[in-house]
Amino acid sequence: MERFKEEWERYRGIVEEGLDVFLPHEDEYPQSLYRAMRYAVFSGGKRLRPVLTLAVAEAFGSDPKLLLPQAVAIELIHTFTLVHDDLPDIDNDDYRRGKPTVHKVFGNAIAILTGDALFALAHKVAIAGSLPDGTKLRILREINDALCHRGVIEGQVADIESLQKEPDYEDMLFIHTHKTGKLIEASTVVGAIGAGASEEEVASIREYGRKVGLAFQIMDDILDAVGDEKEVGKRLRKDFNRASAVRILGLDGARRKMDELVDGAIAVVDRVLGRRGWFLKEMANFIRERTY
Ligand code: IPE
Ligand code: IPE
Ligand code: MG
Ligand code: MG
Ligand code: MG
Repeated sequence: MERFKEEWERYRGIVEEGLDVFLPHEDEYPQSLYRAMRYAVFSGGKRLRPVLTLAVAEAFGSDPKLLLPQAVAIELIHTFTLVHDDLPDIDNDDYRRGKPTVHKVFGNAIAILTGDALFALAHKVAIAGSLPDGTKLRILREINDALCHRGVIEGQVADIESLQKEPDYEDMLFIHTHKTGKLIEASTVVGAIGAGASEEEVASIREYGRKVGLAFQIMDDILDAVGDEKEVGKRLRKDFNRASAVRILGLDGARRKMDELVDGAIAVVDRVLGRRGWFLKEMANFIRERTY
């Protein structure tokens, strides 16, 4: 566990530096936008997605720094989805990562534009760096596929619309695999593509990413139901009127489903990467055990 935490910190350090390099400075005009972008990004996120990208790349023998722009792009996109998710017309949340949400500090208009800006900047960053152009293009496509036309945005729409009905297990699967699973899946696949893994290896990593992605959102629902607000850093007990895995499967059922996914994800990595996949296996276990 110590080694896992140390390795996570090593990857996170690389990501933090990369984010700082690619984000515009706060003293540039218009300062309000850049202050809001930096506020949103540097507010203490776990950096799970870019860490996954770098870790997958390294497990396939690549220097993780080669993929830093692409990992940064994914975290920018994740942050954009959070800023918009918290807006009054979506989840109406005033608290994120232990701090007031972007629209609470900067107002709704700047928060919307901050999301737009993070999204646009991510596309510029995703094609920066020294990977071959063909690889960058594939990565860009992977990231975009995770967002629209069966991606995060469709998941978010279905999530909002679940308020208007009695959601069932199928609704929950669609929402969770899209609103959260797709970007986590892409984070892992981007690492494999960037490292030049074979098609078969990319497919296996996709399976790993899919499983941990769904497990991650099920845990988000479990934390919503029984987590500690201070530790999680956001308002909890909010999702019972939605397609929460806890509402649909019960607490034990949600935990069972998550165990099945995490065990499956570990088995995939064992098969493809053996010992080189130790961090990815620990990451799957972290998702099962996390309290924040
Ligand atoms: C929160 O994601 C939103 C979900 C998809 C559940 P994280 O739990 O990864 O949030 P941060 O980035 O660490 O704050
Ligand atoms: C978030 O789902 C998914 C995206 C941000 C795309 P939630 O709405 O459950 O995430 P939290 O709980 O606000 O972090
Ligand atoms: Mg939401
Ligand atoms: Mg939310
Ligand atoms: Mg949630």
